[in-house]
Amino acid sequence: MLRLNIPRPQPLRPRRCQLSVPGSSEKMLAKAEALTVDSIILDLEDAVAPNAKELARGQVIKALTEHQWQATSISVRINATDTPWCHEDIIHLVSHAGAQISTLVLAKTNQAADVHFVHLLLDQLEQKLGLQNRIGIEGLIEDVSGLLHIEDIAGASDRLESLIFGLGDYSASQHMRLNAIGSTGDYPPDIWHYPRYKLITTCHAYGLDPIDGPYADFKDLDTLQTEAKNAATLGMFGKWAIHPSQVEHLQRAFAPSPEAVTQARKQQAAFAAALANGQGAIAVDGVMVDAASMRLVQNLLDRAELYGL
Ligand code: COA
Ligand code: MG
Repeated sequence: MLRLNIPRPQPLRPRRCQLSVPGSSEKMLAKAEALTVDSIILDLEDAVAPNAKELARGQVIKALTEHQWQATSISVRINATDTPWCHEDIIHLVSHAGAQISTLVLAKTNQAADVHFVHLLLDQLEQKLGLQNRIGIEGLIEDVSGLLHIEDIAGASDRLESLIFGLGDYSASQHMRLNAIGSTGDYPPDIWHYPRYKLITTCHAYGLDPIDGPYADFKDLDTLQTEAKNAATLGMFGKWAIHPSQVEHLQRAFAPSPEAVTQARKQQAAFAAALANGQGAIAVDGVMVDAASMRLVQNLLDRAELYGL
């Protein structure tokens, strides 16, 4: 099952911002339809009260099949494998709206077996229904056990497309003392450094997209942008939003700036000319550029291409 650095069969999808929309709220489902965003995640898990799970499932299926979505991809967050809802979430969603689902986002992905369960059930349903699309899986790492098992999880299925750092549940499982989901607490060094770093390195080793969790204080856009910048600098490809006001900030924060794209192209052209002259290292605008710089430049240009920039 371990497929280190092997390209995944799932399509590459932009995930600069993934907006979570409670499946139990008809109003928010309607609002989300017209939003231009890379990814929308219709939620059946923690944004939905236990007594509204079945209602939400029906509303999400209706929204999947009837809405004219403007988002690039639509996913559904399903309940964890240790709840009574997980298997029925998958069976109902895929049976009634499988063709409209890009990925299933699995809450509380704590061990490889959680991913195997979803993978095998999808194998059976896709065969039975003759689905043409192959539904991907995104795993929420949001428990200390998920972080401990993250490498096994990352290699558990070739349906996996991303791992998401779920800050809220994670901070509870680690008994952190915080006021709001995504806040940094009374801890002067960056409280999220280790789990973010671990998740990002694992994702890139296994060819998955590392995605940062949400920032709950949706009126504080300055902190949102700082958090997004920190996450992007470390190598995250995107971040969850919980409110429409956060969307455009995240879409921008995780995209290369036009200046960075121009500079990358300039360095690439200068380096190609240098190689033709037998030079492996040159100065461009006073900065040394070599083969390693070209790998950074290529990463940036690949992202720009994926985002249509
Ligand atoms: N998706 C779609 N629409 C949303 C939305 C979301 N996540 N959050 C808010 N909206 C809508 C509101 O319905 C409202 O619509 P309107 O202009 O038609 O009235 C508008 O955006 C402005 O919302 P606002 O009044 O500022 O917020 P609120 O008090 O209605 O909602 C929350 C605040 C936090 C309850 C809400 O944003 C929410 O439920 N977010 C998602 C939570 C979630 O998914 N959690 C699980 C993942 S961590
Ligand atoms: Mg959670």
